[in-house]
Amino acid sequence: MAKHYEALQRAEAERRRKVVGEPAPVAPTEWDTTPASAPKHKKGLLDKMLSRRQVAESGMETASDLNKRRIAMLQPESFASEQFRTLRGRIDSLATQQAIKTVSIASANSGEGKTMASINLAVVTSMSVGRKVLLVDCDLRQPKIHISLGLEPAFGLSEVLSGKASLEDAVMRVEGVDLDVLPVRGRPSNPSELLASEAMRELIAKVSGLYDQIIFDTPACLGLPDAKTISELSDGVVLVVRAGVTPKQDIETVLEILDQRRVLGLLLNGTDREASQGRPY
Ligand SMILES: Nc1ncnc2c1ncn2[C@@H]1O[C@H](COP(=O)(O)OP(=O)(O)OP(=O)(O)O)[C@@H](O)[C@H]1O
Ligand SMILES: [Mg+2]
Repeated sequence: MAKHYEALQRAEAERRRKVVGEPAPVAPTEWDTTPASAPKHKKGLLDKMLSRRQVAESGMETASDLNKRRIAMLQPESFASEQFRTLRGRIDSLATQQAIKTVSIASANSGEGKTMASINLAVVTSMSVGRKVLLVDCDLRQPKIHISLGLEPAFGLSEVLSGKASLEDAVMRVEGVDLDVLPVRGRPSNPSELLASEAMRELIAKVSGLYDQIIFDTPACLGLPDAKTISELSDGVVLVVRAGVTPKQDIETVLEILDQRRVLGLLLNGTDREASQGRPY
């Protein structure tokens, strides 16, 4: 009951911001996502997510790295979360002109923030009342969605695509938010072929009938066909650019590779707050 009440409060606050233009309260530290600074009511969830197993499984990543990928869950009132709500609002505005049910999140290189953006966009979207949201991990090579969200999948995208599991068996619900996730479990030897398969098209058609918004996390665009394949199966693409990191040449190359008509906008990740104030793209 308390969970529902909080969700309703968040939804109402978001609605007021959208309708009345009310500014969001800003947390004092926008990227301080250490457990100590997380809201108290999330502690149980946070503890679970920060289990040693989870951090160990993620290789070199620390708990802080994992938390940065889900700031909209841990600090819904933070500046970063507000930026994702702004992105959500901009996609909604574009969706009044063209159907945007499926959105893929792409970037030129590894480590530029695609998984972080996918999770946060999915979380803020799932907080809009009445919207059913599915987050799909399409990085079959180095999947990170399940690690970041503390999920332990029995099945995932490759099992569904190869007919070893049903969609219903593989989809997992994220605790504390109304978000469904299709994670990756097994890492196939032929990821590009699987993503380009008829089974993937059929899966997208199926989930499009079940969900209001589907978000695809993808691997780096340069050097692999996967992100291009997924972007061409999506209604829109958000291109993540890491401020001060992604070379301009790489951005231009990615824009040549991807179908430009589908690119909804650029998400400039990692700017300082003053620089990005009012300019989240
Ligand atoms: N704005 C940010 N500020 C601080 N850390 C960030 C920010 N964005 C992302 N990170 C951190 O950078 C690392 C890489 O982010 P992420 O995994 O989202 O990138 P990616 O593009 O999905 O990488 P890959 O292509 O390897 O999957 C993570 O540890 C994440 O927590
Ligand atoms: Mg990633």
